[in-house]
Amino acid sequence: MNAPETRTAPPEPHVMKTYGRLPVALSHGRGCWLWDTEGRKYLDGLGGIAVNTLGHGHTRLVPALQEQIAKLIHSSNYYHVPLQEQLAAKLCELSGLTNVFFCSTGLEANEAALKIARKFGHDQGIERPEIVVYEKSFHGRSIATLSATGNPKVQAGFGPLVEGFVRVPLNDVAALDSVAASNPNVVAVFLEVIQGEGGVNPATVEYLQAVRRICDERGWLLMLDEVQCGMGRTGKWFAHQWAGILPDVMPLAKGLGSGVPVGAVVCGPRAANVFAPGNHGTTFGGNPLAMRAGVETIRIMEEDGLLQNAATVGAALRAGLERELAGVDGVVEIRGQGLMLGIELARNCGELLGRAAQAGLMLSVTADRVVRLVPPLILSADEAAQIVAILAPLIKTFLAEAQP
Ligand SMILES: Cc1ncc(COP(=O)(O)O)c(C=O)c1O
Repeated sequence: MNAPETRTAPPEPHVMKTYGRLPVALSHGRGCWLWDTEGRKYLDGLGGIAVNTLGHGHTRLVPALQEQIAKLIHSSNYYHVPLQEQLAAKLCELSGLTNVFFCSTGLEANEAALKIARKFGHDQGIERPEIVVYEKSFHGRSIATLSATGNPKVQAGFGPLVEGFVRVPLNDVAALDSVAASNPNVVAVFLEVIQGEGGVNPATVEYLQAVRRICDERGWLLMLDEVQCGMGRTGKWFAHQWAGILPDVMPLAKGLGSGVPVGAVVCGPRAANVFAPGNHGTTFGGNPLAMRAGVETIRIMEEDGLLQNAATVGAALRAGLERELAGVDGVVEIRGQGLMLGIELARNCGELLGRAAQAGLMLSVTADRVVRLVPPLILSADEAAQIVAILAPLIKTFLAEAQP
């Protein structure tokens, strides 16, 4: 692996400083491996933050995208884009839902979902519709989506926030029942099936089923943000499918285009006709290149059995981490599903990011104390074992340093 030399950040005087970056500049990738501009090699446990479904430089995705770029990158939504219908039909087949709106990012998909919920309310004569959202949630950084987000750090400095949200804790049916009993303006419930940025916190199957039931009883929309946990990451196409329920609205992005920006809002019959022409739109959404990326990503996932791979390699990765970290003081919990795993530690561990990179492993830390792994879904069992072999000693050493 990489030598433990000191790295210096490349100068970036003109890029706005919205990120605390590591001193690493990546140059190219192949499969689950990345190389930086100095020629150092990294195992990708991050997948561009749950984006690079097919890893890097995929031998079937790249030529398909090259062909599409040469043919048509962008046309505009003034005209029909046949690839939109192709991807929409596939997403409907996989989800059991009926219609799709395309955009380019996760926050845009969520923004559209929030607009659908509000208009759904207005269409019933509810003038000030409210949407139930969750503690520790993350839905994006536009003003509306950061208002829906349950993280004061994301909101700080950007008030006044958008109104119309009621916040509850995850996996607490009584809290949702009490909102239902006291608030006649609620029109929708909006949650991540597995909270990603909030620390890899799964909604339980029982909770998801209860939310579906309450939404049905009340006539609310169930809106599941699958931007991070969807697209095969948990071993099913969509994480809510483990609970055997159907949402009314499902925002997607991240893994859908394997690195090409694609966002989508997939809707069932109760939400699909809420928007009329002129109610919503975006210049880039549904462009031929993005649509081709989505179509080819799903095609390759099906051909190569990547749902099964996410389930089995994810289980092996988790088992390896559980085995190596068993009984280690300061490891609070290992949780998640498939290739979306979090290791909660007893103390803030942001510095593990740099240490892991130094050791040749890409990962992330969310909610201050949770090491998160969201690698490409092509990860092999051998690569999973290599992640364990690098990460477990790093965590043990880090925790041991904190001992008195
Ligand atoms: C669950 C969830 N929703 C929405 C977003 C926002 O997506 P984007 O960064 O593409 O706007 C994210 C990003 O991390 C996310 O994890």
